[in-house]
Amino acid sequence: MTRESVAPAGRVDGEVNVPGDKSISHRALILGAMARGRTYIGNASPAADVLATAACLRACGVWVRDFPPARYALDGNGVGRLRAPDGVLDCANSGTTMRLLAGVLAGNDIEATLDGDSSLRRRPMSRVVDPLRAMGAEIEASPQGTAPLRVHGTEVLEGLTWRPPVASAQVKSAILLAGLSAAGLTTVVEPIPTRDHTERMLRMCGVEVVSNGAEVTVHPGPLEPFGLRVPGDLGSAAFFLALAASRPGWRVRCPGLGLNPGRIGILEVLQAMGAGVHVEEGDPAGGVEPAGDVEVRGTHLRGVTISGSLTVRCIDELPIIAVLASQADGDTEIRDAGELRNKESDRIATLETGLRLLGVPCDSSAETLTIHGPVRLRPARLDAEGDHRFAMAWAIAAALVPAGDGESVIEGAETAAVSYPGFFADLRKLLAS
Ligand code: S3P
Repeated sequence: MTRESVAPAGRVDGEVNVPGDKSISHRALILGAMARGRTYIGNASPAADVLATAACLRACGVWVRDFPPARYALDGNGVGRLRAPDGVLDCANSGTTMRLLAGVLAGNDIEATLDGDSSLRRRPMSRVVDPLRAMGAEIEASPQGTAPLRVHGTEVLEGLTWRPPVASAQVKSAILLAGLSAAGLTTVVEPIPTRDHTERMLRMCGVEVVSNGAEVTVHPGPLEPFGLRVPGDLGSAAFFLALAASRPGWRVRCPGLGLNPGRIGILEVLQAMGAGVHVEEGDPAGGVEPAGDVEVRGTHLRGVTISGSLTVRCIDELPIIAVLASQADGDTEIRDAGELRNKESDRIATLETGLRLLGVPCDSSAETLTIHGPVRLRPARLDAEGDHRFAMAWAIAAALVPAGDGESVIEGAETAAVSYPGFFADLRKLLAS
């Protein structure tokens, strides 16, 4: 395990160019592999999660060439044209890899096993196994509905209408990707709409996708290859933007971020807490994914309530929002957040442990976390608990300790590489500027 020490920040004022969006990068590789012909991807995410997707696709016979640090060229063979891999497909720590590839494999007449690390092996997979079985794929999982998943798909699945009980873009995407191999239409009706990268990018590939609020229908059919420059990852930028939001006079600008409507909850939350949020929209990436520059200016923050659709739209940013809430006047209540318990760690439990070490009073129930601010943070020894978002959220907490009160230590800092390998280098650059 790698340990990083982070000292309190002086004034924060600078620009950070964060790497490409992880969710879009996964999908670019997967859709490129399902298209017939050559696809080019630029500014791809260097995340370990995305490398896992590329490796799995290679193992299934797709020619994927990477030009480090951030470009790929790949030759897809078309829908249903994957080759049976020789060994287990290692999804490492990546839920997106496992769930989306389960959907893709369901439409291939091959047998393949998807597995991952101990964190991924604990996460619920019945949410994709059940609908894919209903479409006609044979899938074996553990009795608890967890990985490893042995998938034996078929080239022609049955279309279906599925109503997932939880709002999950990974589940929706798995079903829509399987739907490309269905004999008829496939519809997903979500309890709350989630990020719609898969829908937008399928349209970019010439597939007919009809969205109507929480209901999405995909028509089966072939995909056209594409060229795409991936926009920056708002979820990675969120750490720096939150840091800037915490103090009057602080400022951070992140150019070229993805601004998918299902992802911009963090900006709404920062604004509701009182921070200045300025967005300058640019050209959409690939003509389909909204993108632009974001600048955040700090202030004396106030506590907020986050619930329902807003919780879904900032689901990955809730750890850093909870850290920021410690600096706000009054309570911040994060509701409808039971899904946090199913992420790379039980994020409600991890938050409670770390926040208490930092001296932050907080309490939780199954689906809610309440943070009582404002608090003068104390330096602490914090554990990322194998969860990349905490390697980064705790580093920002360490920077928010008042100057002169001492350094904090983040244990397991290397896990930041799951989504953002250059995070600590970029943080140090910002803090030194
Ligand atoms: C993702 C969807 C979300 C998110 C994850 C990435 C995606 O997961 O938390 O980091 O790329 O589709 P769920 O679908 O489980 O909510």
